[in-house]
Amino acid sequence: MSNTVIVGTQWGDEGKGKIVDMLAEKAGAIVRFQGGNNAGHTLVVDGEQCILHLIPSGILHPGKKCLIGNGVVLDPEVFLKEIDGLAAKGVDVSPERMMISKKAQIIMPYHKQLDNCRESMKSAESKIGTTGRGIGPCYEDKMSRVGIRASDLADPELLRSKIEVGLQEKNVLFEKLFNAEPLDAEKVYQDMLPIAERVKPYLGDVSSVIQDENKNGRSVLFEGAQGVHLDIDHGTYPFVTSSNVVSGNAAAGAGCGPRHLERITGICKAYTTRVGSGPFPTELQDEIGDTLQSNGHEFGATTGRKRRCGWLDMVVLRETARLCDLTDFALTKLDVLSGLKEIKICVSYKYRGETVEYPPQEQNSMAEVTPVYESMPGWDEDITTARNYEDLPEAARNYISRIEELSGVKVAIVSVGPDRAQTIVR
Ligand code: GDP
Ligand code: IMO
Ligand code: MG
Repeated sequence: MSNTVIVGTQWGDEGKGKIVDMLAEKAGAIVRFQGGNNAGHTLVVDGEQCILHLIPSGILHPGKKCLIGNGVVLDPEVFLKEIDGLAAKGVDVSPERMMISKKAQIIMPYHKQLDNCRESMKSAESKIGTTGRGIGPCYEDKMSRVGIRASDLADPELLRSKIEVGLQEKNVLFEKLFNAEPLDAEKVYQDMLPIAERVKPYLGDVSSVIQDENKNGRSVLFEGAQGVHLDIDHGTYPFVTSSNVVSGNAAAGAGCGPRHLERITGICKAYTTRVGSGPFPTELQDEIGDTLQSNGHEFGATTGRKRRCGWLDMVVLRETARLCDLTDFALTKLDVLSGLKEIKICVSYKYRGETVEYPPQEQNSMAEVTPVYESMPGWDEDITTARNYEDLPEAARNYISRIEELSGVKVAIVSVGPDRAQTIVR
């Protein structure tokens, strides 16, 4: 297998975890390159479900190296809870196979408090609906060059002084602006010491592991979180996350050059979902939307919120294809569409009197567009047991062909159920 980047093509929750788990069998290492525990990646193997927020989705394959790259923001408490949970199920999470880049940024308690204070200050229309995990404030500190890096956990004096400096500014905000309790630097530091002790054995040079894997003839799987339309630059700003989600960031966020990225697989749900606020042109606020929500069990894996549902949007996918250089799609949750009489695909938008094939770039313009739909006949058959492309009903194959035509990207993998085995590879 060639080095492969997995990106979410829509607004997250496309089924990245499932596809990474499935492809991990052929890789030497799996590396997360951005985001943090705002992600929730669901794996189902032989009927048993496992939800991961930080640990790469290759962890259920014994012996595969699981790496957390420099581009990730890591909540060390969540990391430890996740490895403890996996260890209790008998999964090997030893530092022999698990590594955190020394350059990854650490999410501190004050980042989470700041995230929640900011959201609660906002009006209903301007709330982003963040996951409240401190993601934005942690990336802010990284860019302000005051962030705590994973390697600082092994340097108590540096850690203490960074916490003190960080809280000088943040406590003013908590007390004067947000009417919240200030945090005591000494307590934050003391609480972090036992956590740091446990995280220390995992710290390492992720970049050189990637290099060695490739040198030894093994491929690397780059696991993206979120979706391209939540990208800090290219998403529906300001209703976005705080990192670059696009495939190009896999190189920067894992620690290799862009020529290492060979195959770029975009994970695409057969319809569209979004959690949190922000424009969503093809959203269905009707019975069909409710059907997709309940048949697809569309609840957020991180926050448990109901996901908003709508038709597939080719404008969104075209933009992802050009921003990410997609080589192929993995089309997921096709089974959820079974039973619909008619399936609609958004092929373009009307925007300020013009027909557009790519999202307009002005802030909030996505809230102004009107989707232009094409309609296709649905199918009634249960497709969850299909394992070959030919097993799919003709209407389902036609839907896939139309997606390929409209995007210019081939569908290489079709997923027909949550289980690892419920997959068709073409
Ligand atoms: P991720 O964040 O992209 O990894 O996706 P999530 O795990 O948050 O959400 C995807 C959900 O859909 C999970 O509950 C998966 O178990 C489930 N899922 C993935 N692929 C399929 C599929 O082909 N069919 C069905 N019915 N469910 C799927
Ligand atoms: P996975 O990897 C879906 C959304 C939040 C919110 C916005 C900003 O499971 O696909 P943040 O906490 O990142 O500052 O929130 O981004 N969001 C996601 N939505 N899937 C995710 O991850 C998400 N991660 C963040 O709901 O709208
Ligand atoms: Mg998810």
